[in-house]
Amino acid sequence: MTIRIATICGSVRPGNYTHMAMNVAIDELRKTSDIEVTAIDLSTLDLPLPGLDARNPEAIQAFQTTIEEATGALLAAPEYHGGISSPMKLAIDNLGFPSKLAGKPVAILGVAAGAIGAIKSTEQLRAICAHVGAVPLPLAVSIPLIQQVFNEQGECQDPRAEALIRRSATSLLDYINNAVCPKLSLEALLREKST
Ligand SMILES: Cc1cc2nc3c(=O)[nH]c(=O)nc-3n(C[C@H](O)[C@H](O)[C@H](O)COP(=O)(O)O)c2cc1C
Repeated sequence: MTIRIATICGSVRPGNYTHMAMNVAIDELRKTSDIEVTAIDLSTLDLPLPGLDARNPEAIQAFQTTIEEATGALLAAPEYHGGISSPMKLAIDNLGFPSKLAGKPVAILGVAAGAIGAIKSTEQLRAICAHVGAVPLPLAVSIPLIQQVFNEQGECQDPRAEALIRRSATSLLDYINNAVCPKLSLEALLREKST
């Protein structure tokens, strides 16, 4: 079975560090065979504010379909003013009600410039994901002092941080392989037997 992972980077700043961390996690995901990773770039989506008409409804529909068809999602949240970024919240607000994230395992990766790390953004993202019915994984990875972790070329300079970022990817795959896929196979088996 192909595992489909959708990733959402919560920063749209040119040269942002969240994207650099996300790239490491995506690299880890792609080590697995039979996996499809769709990286959602919020800077190209032109998401409408809640209640306003979309200027590009097809793009919003495609975004929703990507999440709907995903086995799981990896969300990367920069710490902005003690919370999640507005692009990340807007992305979740554009996933419908009930949310296309409902029932999906979600790995959370937070990055922050400060020494405390992305404590607030990861906590808030976990609460929002749980609220919309997603399954946020217990391990939320928070990377502090992110400007010291990556160089300007986006290369990770800190092996410990890199290992943690990679764990956000492996914990998602572990959960999918151990909790989601066995359930799916069991369902398939039962359906086969009942026909
Ligand atoms: C609007 C805004 C608010 C921010 N607030 C915080 C903050 O509260 N705590 C912190 O550690 N860093 C804060 N930062 C710095 C970001 O954590 C830093 O830019 C980091 O690289 C992640 O964001 P990025 O992916 O956009 O680069 C803020 C940055 C922006 C643009």
